[in-house]
Amino acid sequence: MEQKSAPVGVFDSGVGGLTVAREIMRQIPNEKIIYFGDTARVPYGSKSQETVTRFSKQIVRFLQTFQVKTIVVACNTASAYALDELEKESEIPIIGVVKPGARVAAEVTRNGRIGVIATEATIGSQIYSQYIKELNRDVTIYGKACPLFVPLVEEGLWQDPVTDEIARRYLTELIDIDIDTLILGCTHYPLIRSTLGRIMGGDVTLVNPAYETARELKELLEEKGLLNEEPPKLGENQYQFYVSDGAEKFKRFANSIIKYGILSAKTINIEEY
Ligand code: DGL
Repeated sequence: MEQKSAPVGVFDSGVGGLTVAREIMRQIPNEKIIYFGDTARVPYGSKSQETVTRFSKQIVRFLQTFQVKTIVVACNTASAYALDELEKESEIPIIGVVKPGARVAAEVTRNGRIGVIATEATIGSQIYSQYIKELNRDVTIYGKACPLFVPLVEEGLWQDPVTDEIARRYLTELIDIDIDTLILGCTHYPLIRSTLGRIMGGDVTLVNPAYETARELKELLEEKGLLNEEPPKLGENQYQFYVSDGAEKFKRFANSIIKYGILSAKTINIEEY
């Protein structure tokens, strides 16, 4: 396969990475995507670094069977815990979602008070603070783990009084300390963006790292001469989705999030990789 026309691999623990895949589809519409959602082993956010790294390595090996030209780790937890290890072992470029999100937040804050909501793992790793501080030492970062958001999103409770109530409990302390920027530091969270925005109020800028990640991917492909200039051929299966469990449920989700034709999903045994 010619390198330019090779697909991009994208992965997450479940449906969250679809928010990143959707952005890649919008910004670089010629690219083919192989998406893997680890639906059998979600959530990653409460697991150890060792486990998340092992899972991530298996997924990278699976994606490489498609001769992908690059991989996007569309999961903050895997980006925080495993990206360095994955980069060490890979001959193709691998990008995560944390750096792009940190960059935007450092740029848009006006009062220097940035909140990060994410999984326990991402918050515990302090990775957002580390990257943001490298860009601007004068900001203060407040991290808040929101472990219940991932199951609520995976259950499809995007607009629901239960999600509202839980979001209020998690976010009150960030409202009280007057942050002006909130990073949605888990790729599942943009799916409850309207709830989060309503609770935080109009003065707080919500940063969704998906947009910046797609932009970074585009720049990387351009720089390496790997951007696909050819539009997909008629009848070509441009987007392929694989999961480790529950393909039907995932397919329904994917079709409600991504409006680019009817998508189907296949279950594979990721433990074989
Ligand atoms: N969507 C993922 C993230 O960005 C992982 C959520 C989880 O599996 O806990 O962190």
